[in-house]
Amino acid sequence: MSSGHSASTPAASTPAAFARPNPAAQAVRFAGLDITFQLQTGGVHRAVSDITLNVARHDFVAIVGPTGCGKSTLLNAAAGLLKPSAGTVEINGTPLSGLNAKAGYLFQADALMPWKTAIDNVAVALEPQGVKRAEALERARAWLTRVGLKNFADRYPHMLSGGQRKRVSLAQMLIRDPQILLMDEPFGPLDAQTRQIMGNLLLSLWAAGDQAGERKAVLFVTHDLEEAIALADRVIVMSAGPAAKIVGDFRVELPRPRDIAEIRTEPAFHQIHKAIWASLRVEVQKTYEMSAEAQQ
Ligand SMILES: Nc1ncnc2c1ncn2[C@@H]1O[C@H](COP(=O)(O)OP(=O)(O)O)[C@@H](O)[C@H]1O
Ligand SMILES: [Mg+2]
Repeated sequence: MSSGHSASTPAASTPAAFARPNPAAQAVRFAGLDITFQLQTGGVHRAVSDITLNVARHDFVAIVGPTGCGKSTLLNAAAGLLKPSAGTVEINGTPLSGLNAKAGYLFQADALMPWKTAIDNVAVALEPQGVKRAEALERARAWLTRVGLKNFADRYPHMLSGGQRKRVSLAQMLIRDPQILLMDEPFGPLDAQTRQIMGNLLLSLWAAGDQAGERKAVLFVTHDLEEAIALADRVIVMSAGPAAKIVGDFRVELPRPRDIAEIRTEPAFHQIHKAIWASLRVEVQKTYEMSAEAQQ
């Protein structure tokens, strides 16, 4: 991987990859990860290559990169949905085998069950743990209140707006109190204002922490660099695929608590954006040129 990039400003300064992290202190650790897909045509597609990344417990890490570079592939590896062809995935210092039970996952697409009400969609997340229905409903109601849906518990998904459905999905993920949140462009389909509201809601829930008051580790994939900077402690830049690598690792030292709409107006935000975009735009351009060539 890269040697860790940093902007020359105090706001985005620490070359995170220079640190020698203690493996057990890492919520998610990728070491020398290669992920290859078998193609139906008989060939193989190497999506990502030699990915080494440490996500500390309590850290909010965003991954940006051009479309098709392997962001979702990496999240799937962290979730245990995909087995790497080489390298290791460790969760809290232990090699991952099978599904990652410590993680909650939120996709871009709605994963709510249309035949269940909002409260049932949230309560159902506790079923695998054998929580009794009355208790599950009580806890689901408390979570719906926390995400601002107190009065929408009995609505079915089709009776909710896109932003409200996302709130239900957030509650569904958080009610299990996972230590690690894996989020794949979760606010992608929402309009700009709703995205900002959801971003602030996510930050406030993250800051409140888990049952012990500790913040969760977050791995947040987005194609939106501004969203990445506004939310995260660290922004990872991936190169254009195939065989995508990490080409940038930037620490975002903007103060918290943050309002993700207001923080975009700060000069420090612009400095960080400029530094990261210098790295990202090269990769976006490569992807664009490759797809233009493919169409000729
Ligand atoms: N199951 C699969 N079989 C073959 N190729 C795949 C499969 N899943 C993803 N890919 C390819 O791997 C690359 C990375 O995909 P993905 O992780 O979805 O990218 P991103 O999320 O960054 O847009 C893409 O070129 C994609 O076409
Ligand atoms: Mg993706």
